[in-house]
Amino acid sequence: MQVESEIQKQLEYIEKVKKINNNKNEKLKYSILTMGCQLNENDSEKLCGMIEKMGYKRTEDFNEADLTLFNTCCVRENAEDKLFGKLGELKRLKEKKGIIIAIGGCMMQEKHITSKIKESYPYTDIIFGTHTLHKFPEDLYKVLEEKRKLEDVLDIDGKVYEGLPIKRDSNIKASVTIMNGCNNFCSYCIVPYVRGRERSREPRAIIEEVEELSKQGYKEITLLGQNVNSYLRVEREKCIKFEEYEDINSFATLLRVINKIEGIERIRFVSPHPKDFTDDVIEAIADCEKVCKLVHLPLQSGNTKVLKEMNRKYTKEQYLKLVEKMKSKIPNLTLSTDIIVGFPGETDKEFEDTLDVVKKVKFEQVYMFIYSRRVGTPGNNMENQIPDEIKHKRFNKLKELVESQITENNQKYIGTIQKVLVEGTSKNNETMLTGRTDSNKVVVFEADKSLIGKVIELDIVSEHMWYLKGKINSKFGEIPDNVK
Ligand code: 5AD
Ligand code: SF4
Repeated sequence: MQVESEIQKQLEYIEKVKKINNNKNEKLKYSILTMGCQLNENDSEKLCGMIEKMGYKRTEDFNEADLTLFNTCCVRENAEDKLFGKLGELKRLKEKKGIIIAIGGCMMQEKHITSKIKESYPYTDIIFGTHTLHKFPEDLYKVLEEKRKLEDVLDIDGKVYEGLPIKRDSNIKASVTIMNGCNNFCSYCIVPYVRGRERSREPRAIIEEVEELSKQGYKEITLLGQNVNSYLRVEREKCIKFEEYEDINSFATLLRVINKIEGIERIRFVSPHPKDFTDDVIEAIADCEKVCKLVHLPLQSGNTKVLKEMNRKYTKEQYLKLVEKMKSKIPNLTLSTDIIVGFPGETDKEFEDTLDVVKKVKFEQVYMFIYSRRVGTPGNNMENQIPDEIKHKRFNKLKELVESQITENNQKYIGTIQKVLVEGTSKNNETMLTGRTDSNKVVVFEADKSLIGKVIELDIVSEHMWYLKGKINSKFGEIPDNVK
């Protein structure tokens, strides 16, 4: 009830800001820069939904904007430099046009960052955190009406708010957040400190959102969470029951129910944790025809000692065994992963274990990161921090291996027929269309634009490092509705 009345209050603030803006007799514009992961992108879609309802139109040029927003990430250091650089550039616009500058997201949960902003960029109007995103209309109203600066950051875990407007980036693929926060405390990671503890969304809210997306014509859903395969774990421990969907009590059962929603053709999810990859989840992926067979399985390191220091709670052997089990139970399984190089104390020999796992698993895609010290995490206080030069050397070695594997792996696609969800025209060539395979590979091909949003079959004719080239399969063409 408290949550519903809070949402009602924010919807009223949206109307109030809209009224102020309507009286201005000019077309107001906003720009938004999103840093970081898909969860942040999904948060930005929610911010855009609220802002557009308040009468602003989006512009990609921040010189034109009356309201400029940053949705920040703090997982690695480079985002900080980017934010401070952009804030410096905005000073001129603030002085010239009196624009409103708002900064939100994960970085704002870090005190040393908000202090720096207040000290060095005092012209920032709104600072808001991860637990107060839904209050943006109220914050903006106060800044417009009362002409004051505002800091709205909560240290306690926010509730799960439903029912605010959303403006999605695509009309074919949509992300649906199923849980917020993380309880794992990997020793390199800042996320548990800035996103709080695990809280799952109610099954009812998720199912209703996916059903609505299906009605609107969306074809692909990505379920998001820091640790998706522990969906409802905390609620189970607290014996919280959601009576309307008694058959959903875990991530596996959630997948099975979403798989039955008509109109949706593909289901993806990020990110699961290997330690929580239970058999019921493996069976659900194998059984559910809409669940893509590309699984993102973050490895982080291939060495058991480093994994222990990282607090990952699995060994090299357990990871490899899990991969073998998944490969044997899920036909056509492909895998992608995240890897960090240069974690404190990692020796050359221990790094070789990471290369060894990469060679053995043959990932479809590897997201590679250089270890970045994060204030407040155990990793930051560890001795034996690795010099930058060695980190870069290891990174390049890993990159070389990964790229050689991608080239080799791409060869396997040539001559095959792939089902591809057509997403739109190619960014580099308007006359071509692009889409993605089940394994999330980009395919570029020539075809009529009427196929956008459909699943079609393509013959793969050639490969390039980051994409494949396809041709409409002359035998089958578009797959008839009854066999999709
Ligand atoms: N340094 C480098 N990479 C990190 N990641 C998380 N924290 C750090 C850090 N401090 C990577 C992990 C995670 C991905 C989202 O970001 O690989 O899976
Ligand atoms: Fe960070 Fe580990 Fe939680 Fe992922 S599981 S968000 S890496 S603490």
